[in-house]
Amino acid sequence: RIVYVNGDYVPEEEAKISIFDRGFLMADGVYEVTTVLGGRLIDFAGHMARLKRSLDALDMEAPAGEDELLQIHRDLVTRNEVDDGLIYLQVTRGNPGDRDFAYPAPGTARPTLVVFTQSKPGLADNPAARAGWKVISIPDLRWGRRDIKTVQLLYPSMGKMMAKKAGADDAWMVEDGFVTEGTSNNAYIVRDGRIITRHLSQEILHGITRAAVLRLAREAQMEVEERPFTIEEAQAADEAFVTSASAFVMPVVEIDGVRLGDGTPGPVARRLRDIYLDESL
Ligand code: PDD
Repeated sequence: RIVYVNGDYVPEEEAKISIFDRGFLMADGVYEVTTVLGGRLIDFAGHMARLKRSLDALDMEAPAGEDELLQIHRDLVTRNEVDDGLIYLQVTRGNPGDRDFAYPAPGTARPTLVVFTQSKPGLADNPAARAGWKVISIPDLRWGRRDIKTVQLLYPSMGKMMAKKAGADDAWMVEDGFVTEGTSNNAYIVRDGRIITRHLSQEILHGITRAAVLRLAREAQMEVEERPFTIEEAQAADEAFVTSASAFVMPVVEIDGVRLGDGTPGPVARRLRDIYLDESL
């Protein structure tokens, strides 16, 4: 695989960054994951707009202009012959030389830009979407600026492991009694045909897939309500699902051991998945 590091395309085993990079020492970095279907980038502009918001929120310099980033994404898709898969982009504050809590003075550290691809043949035809996911609930112990897509992913990783140990597929995080989101996706329930998902705030990541799916739902005359919901309300719902760039619309069929409906993916989740994939393919 060819990867991109700070201006160069190199084989992955030759890619190097400094051990003093603040991304490595302090998780001082942000990222984006863009999906590739049939060699095409899905919602690249949306991902770049969110990258800019993340960088601005952390007073971090942009490593390159949007045109250049688009070119890098396209080059890697071509060089690595990615048909279906993901492109991971990470920007960190770079290597100021010494470890210091204060940000380096402007002009003393260049941001580090790393981009790589992951091929996932048949990504859109994921058998898991036919069975649906089981989720467990866990407390949301992340920091308070989840709207910034930082590389601090240890707690979501722990959550994924807790889910696996419990025989589930993912964890829904709960704060002050209400579901925030999944470990790496936004969470939804459906009641009487109405789609309910938490409103945007600093408590959750503003999913690019969320924006697309809610737009498509409204265009299809489905009702959408943006408000928090509890695990109990979710367990009593007709159906549930999550969205993310890599999972698209993934039905959820069980929450903390309680089956939703007949325990199979619901019609609204299946329809939204079809509509979303139709538009993307
Ligand atoms: N995760 N919420 C969280 C906490 C996420 O990490 C993600 C994305 C989402 C969904 O956002 P989007 O629709 O823009 O992918 C919501 C990516 C896919 C990841 O970390 O791999």
